[in-house]
Amino acid sequence: MTLLRQPDIGYIPTPHNVTRSLLDFAKITPSDILYDLGSGDGRILIEAAKQWETRGVGIDIDPKRIQQAQENAETAGVDNLLEFRQEDLFKSDFREATVVFIYLLPHLNLRLRSRLQMQLKSGSRIISKDFDMGDWPPLHTLSLPAKTEDDEEVTLYYWQV
Ligand SMILES: C[S@@+](CC[C@H](N)C(=O)[O-])C[C@H]1O[C@@H](n2cnc3c(N)ncnc32)[C@H](O)[C@@H]1O
Repeated sequence: MTLLRQPDIGYIPTPHNVTRSLLDFAKITPSDILYDLGSGDGRILIEAAKQWETRGVGIDIDPKRIQQAQENAETAGVDNLLEFRQEDLFKSDFREATVVFIYLLPHLNLRLRSRLQMQLKSGSRIISKDFDMGDWPPLHTLSLPAKTEDDEEVTLYYWQV
């Protein structure tokens, strides 16, 4: 696998202590199909698969991240539930998703917004870490205060299509 093009944002993982809160916030169930657009080391999908046996698809442009996520899923014993695709998230097909997670940047959220609205089925949820979608108001938000001095406050946004 080679790098398709430079990533639009580098790899900054969601802290492990936030992962479970965001999955609860998204109201994940075993029947969901969860997509992480820019999936990094796969930790969010892996946690959902471990907790609820939720199927998931991770999309990342960086082949190193895809390989790492695949290895992590195998180590966690949930690789049968997950698929990791090396793709550009701005060209990918995520129509089957019932929940999409993004941890990108404000301008990338805005660029993705119309694709999300066009592709996703009515009722699908979108969760964004830290950044909103301009004038598309979220249905819910959740602030997670910093737990230690090294932590940062996290804000989660929830939309329903
Ligand atoms: C901030 S990290 C988030 C990682 C993971 N979602 C998490 O929360 O732990 C953003 C990820 O997006 C990936 N990325 C950047 N531009 C991309 C693009 N155009 N298509 C797919 N992935 C991309 C990066 O390689 C990186 O792994």
